[in-house]
Amino acid sequence: MRTVVNRYYNRLNDIVVEERTLPQLKDHEVWIQVHAAALNKSDLMLALGKPFMIKMMYGLKQPKKIYPGSDFAGQILSVGSKVTQFKPGDSVFGDLSGSGFGAFAEQLIAPASKVGLMPKGYSYLEAATMPMALGTVMTAIQKAPELKQKRVLIYGGSGGVGRFLVQVALHLGAVVTVVSSQKHFNDFKQLGVKELLDYNDPNFILPSNRFDVIFAVNGYQSIQSYAKSLVKGGYCIVIGGSGKQIFGAMTLGAFYKLFKQRTFVSVIASTGHKTLKSISDMANQTKIDVQYGQIYDLSKASKAYIDFNDHKYTGKYVLDIHK
Ligand SMILES: NC(=O)c1ccc[n+]([C@@H]2O[C@H](COP(=O)([O-])OP(=O)(O)OC[C@H]3O[C@@H](n4cnc5c(N)ncnc54)[C@H](OP(=O)(O)O)[C@@H]3O)[C@@H](O)[C@H]2O)c1
Repeated sequence: MRTVVNRYYNRLNDIVVEERTLPQLKDHEVWIQVHAAALNKSDLMLALGKPFMIKMMYGLKQPKKIYPGSDFAGQILSVGSKVTQFKPGDSVFGDLSGSGFGAFAEQLIAPASKVGLMPKGYSYLEAATMPMALGTVMTAIQKAPELKQKRVLIYGGSGGVGRFLVQVALHLGAVVTVVSSQKHFNDFKQLGVKELLDYNDPNFILPSNRFDVIFAVNGYQSIQSYAKSLVKGGYCIVIGGSGKQIFGAMTLGAFYKLFKQRTFVSVIASTGHKTLKSISDMANQTKIDVQYGQIYDLSKASKAYIDFNDHKYTGKYVLDIHK
């Protein structure tokens, strides 16, 4: 079967497609025919070897894991002797970032614990975009108080994580304000967002003492300014951004909790079976709209990485494996 191979850091042009024989299926694993796979920021960071921490984790000079790819959707071909929850023909999806990667391929072998049944009524292309981004959203939602009729700010609503979060928050009955650039405003209005703030507006400032819950999707605001924007008793869920942001949420968070009655929580998402089930449950309750940047066939994987790195399109970059 054909698979994407990356042997170097920061040489996106040298990402190739080669033949590979998969290892033997073990007792707790499943063998999957991949139909679609999606790129995430973490896949790009791995291919670039940036930031430096990536090299410390995945090989100093060149990547130790040469078969890339985290998010996928496909069909079970066969199951290991101890797997009872799946059968051949099941439509499944998952995230291999915690189990050796290898999703950008015609077939893969994965631990059954990293695989979940796909939500109903979604294509493989749609489902492949969900595990990491919507999994992060579901983990973040579980850390927040109930959102119904709460004033919720989503700071960075137009990225892979943010756009799913906006839809889930609206579905849960939140009164949502989104911060992004103006080019996404029409899209958000169609999704049902009433208040939109443009971070490029010279007069842009976060409203003080306004939100019950803030989801900090990126790292462009300080912990202090989020604290100012929360009401007493409010929550800030820190999803993305720099180490400074995550560290700040942990250290300053204790101060704000004790003296200002504002709670800061950081999200570390890991897309195991439980998270995949929560994604499916949510996507079965409400139709999740997927915005595609571009769809590529497997042989164009290198181009997909390059375009993603260049921010060429808005939305998800997806590989249609059998196109
Ligand atoms: N915690 C976890 O387990 C976990 C898991 C997955 C991802 N993540 C993290 O989640 C974060 C979000 O990822 P993502 O893929 O959704 O998107 P992203 O590319 O990190 O962020 C995109 C968002 O940031 C906005 N933005 C860009 N420049 C800005 C600026 N100068 N000021 C304010 N906002 C700005 C974008 O708006 P425009 O498009 O309008 O410019 C867009 O809404 C990342 O940091 C990622 O590492 C965390």
